[in-house]
Amino acid sequence: MVRVQTVVFDAYGTLFDVHSVVEKLDHFFPGKGQEVSDVWRQKQLEYTWLRSLMGRYKNFWYVTDDALVYALKSLGLHADAATRRMVLSEYVYLKPFPEVPSLLNRIQGMPLAILSNGTPQMLHSVVNHAGLGHYFSAILSVDVIRIYKPYMGVYQLAPANLGFRREEILYVSGNAWDAAGAKTYGLTVCWVNRTNTVFDELDVRPDLIVRDLSQLADVLRP
Ligand code: LAC
Repeated sequence: MVRVQTVVFDAYGTLFDVHSVVEKLDHFFPGKGQEVSDVWRQKQLEYTWLRSLMGRYKNFWYVTDDALVYALKSLGLHADAATRRMVLSEYVYLKPFPEVPSLLNRIQGMPLAILSNGTPQMLHSVVNHAGLGHYFSAILSVDVIRIYKPYMGVYQLAPANLGFRREEILYVSGNAWDAAGAKTYGLTVCWVNRTNTVFDELDVRPDLIVRDLSQLADVLRP
C-alpha cells in the first residue's frame, strides 16, 4: 500500500452505527425495530442514488425522513408527526461503533477527516454528541455540490479540500458500493467488512479489507 498521508472516513455505517436506533424504534414499534431500521437505511441509500440520477437533490436530513416514512408505511406502522420527528432526531445521536474512539486516539497524529452524504449540521451534531469532534480537521459534506455518492465529484472533495493527492488519501468505508466509488475515483481505499459479506462486482477492488476499525491502526502504524 502507498504511504498514505491522511485518513478520510465515511460517516454512516463506518464510524456511526445506523442501527443503533433499533432500541428507540423498538420502544415505539415493539418487536419491529430491526425491520424498520433495515428498510429505513436501504431506502435512504436508494433515494440518494435515485435523486442523484434524476438531478433532484434534497438534503440528507429530508431524504432520511422520506425513507423513514416509506419504511413505516411499507411495514404497516403508524406514527404521528411528533413520533416521527422524535425517531428522526435519533440520527444526530447515532452511536459510534465501539472501537472508533480508540482507533481515532491511536491515529490522531495524522490529519483525519470525514466525507459524507450527511448535511454539515447532521455531521457536526453526531460527531460532537459522540465526543469525537476534536479528532477531525475537516468534515466534508456532499451538500456543497448537491449530489450524492458515488458521484466522482464527491470523492474529489477530499483532495480538493485536504491538499493531498488522491492516492495519498486513505478512504475508509463500511459501505462496499461507496468503497468502490472512492476506488474508481483513485483514492486509496479500505473497506470495513463488518458483516462478513462479499464485495460488490463493480470492476474495482479495495486496497485493504478489515473486519472492523481496530485492525486499521496496525496497518497505519506498522
Ligand atoms: C455516508 C453514507 C454513505 O455517510 O452512509 O455518506
